[in-house]
Amino acid sequence: MKKIVLQSHFDHFENLAELPTADQLLMVEAQKAADDAYAPYSKFHVGAAVMLENGVVVRGSNQENAAYPSGLCAERVALFAAGAQHPGIKIIAIAISAYPEGKKQLSVPISPCGNCRQVMSEYELRYDHKIRVIMEGGNGTFIASENVVQFLPYVFSGSVLKKN
Ligand code: THU
Repeated sequence: MKKIVLQSHFDHFENLAELPTADQLLMVEAQKAADDAYAPYSKFHVGAAVMLENGVVVRGSNQENAAYPSGLCAERVALFAAGAQHPGIKIIAIAISAYPEGKKQLSVPISPCGNCRQVMSEYELRYDHKIRVIMEGGNGTFIASENVVQFLPYVFSGSVLKKN
């Protein structure tokens, strides 16, 4: 028996101004998207902004439903909209922002849920291009990773379906 250790790498930024300019602009888009959330049940607004290789930004926000599981997270709303409206155009980054209604900032990081990580990963594989992930780190700070694998080691990949 031997141990397998997988490491993930994230960059932490003290404030918005410390982020690279492209990340700052995308994060502001995600923050605006969060204002458009339809979240009457959780009252938790999430916004996502996807940057395409051609410079187009696609926004998404969480869309809830009275039948709770029928709702969808902001990240997947944005990613599926990008995939549907701009097929074949690589996704190069996604920014994610969130706030509970009545509060403009979180004290803890807003990290994408497992389903959204799996979907982000699919787009990396589909376009064979890493997707930079920028998220809020709590108390006005930010966290970025150079690709989705940092969030999802041992990801389930469609390549296995072709091999079996
Ligand atoms: N939510 C997202 O939009 N993204 C995530 O990564 C986690 C959770 C939404 C789903 C639901 O509308 C609300 O946040 C509370 O879970």
